[in-house]
Amino acid sequence: MKTATAVAHSNIALAKYWGKADSERMLAAVPSLSMTLEALHTRTTVTFDAAIPADEVLLGDSPAQGRARSRVVALLDRVRRQSGLVQNARVVSTNNFPTAAGLASSASGFAALAVAAAAASGLSASGEELSSLARQSSVSAARSIYGGFVALGAGAEFAERVAPAESFEASMVIALTAAGAKAVGSSEGMDRTARTSPYYQAWVEHAPAVYERARRAIIDQNLEALGEAMEESALMMHASMFAARPALVYFTPATLAAMERVRALRTEGVPAFFTMDAGPHVKVLTRPSFATRVADALADTPGVLSVLVSRVGPDASVEPS
Ligand code: DP6
Repeated sequence: MKTATAVAHSNIALAKYWGKADSERMLAAVPSLSMTLEALHTRTTVTFDAAIPADEVLLGDSPAQGRARSRVVALLDRVRRQSGLVQNARVVSTNNFPTAAGLASSASGFAALAVAAAAASGLSASGEELSSLARQSSVSAARSIYGGFVALGAGAEFAERVAPAESFEASMVIALTAAGAKAVGSSEGMDRTARTSPYYQAWVEHAPAVYERARRAIIDQNLEALGEAMEESALMMHASMFAARPALVYFTPATLAAMERVRALRTEGVPAFFTMDAGPHVKVLTRPSFATRVADALADTPGVLSVLVSRVGPDASVEPS
């Protein structure tokens, strides 16, 4: 029996990934850049054991089924191929945040799975290899291998750290809003956008320049420039989704109210900038010294159900046994 437990932190893209250059190989069409979140993580234990009759996957308390299970098994298969192991595995994975709230769990989930499975199998994988392993399950998971601020190039096999957590003081305030009807997942949403949106090509053309501005701003430690690029990236991505057929509109009245509140905070001199993923929640970048003020303002916004605050998080890691 071989076992290992790993923890990986979630990440929020400041410059968004939306669309694949190659769906088979899971390569992104545009470069992206994220902040790893200290407050949100997945802890996963992988055990390879000849006595296990078939791969078992427990997410929270419930056995994974269908596509959720097959995506996990596909990663285990890649690790078995690389390490020469043949045993079946038991995977037990928990998030320290409510998955039902619709916060992305695939990034931290597949990063933790990649690190735990590689360690349990005895593979001595580099950060690049772990990032590539996670990317083949979910592209944004490639970025959760590293802490701090992390970039993944268009068509890149693995992510790279742009700046460590301690080099740039930032907080992310997450406003969980009332979710409407069940959202279309990221993979399906971006495929639909690429196939049907007349604005998708424009997104792919313009995303690299916005990414580059965000990257520069992190290196220059310029939160305002980073915030401006971040809002542009999110709005450009959502514009490409609006024009898909059927349209992908993830915003709800609460999303718009929270965006408006962030703009109002700026007129009061608070450095605060929003971004939204494939869901109605609003994530707000600010300085740690303003995080409580931003969190209070968002908690007080109609339709906002709860608010989480996170600092910049660390690398994914194997827990000492
Ligand atoms: C809007 O990485 O979840 O959050 O690669 O198909 O698994 P797949 O998609 P996923 O998409 C994330 C999209 C996003 C932006 C981002 O995280 O960059």
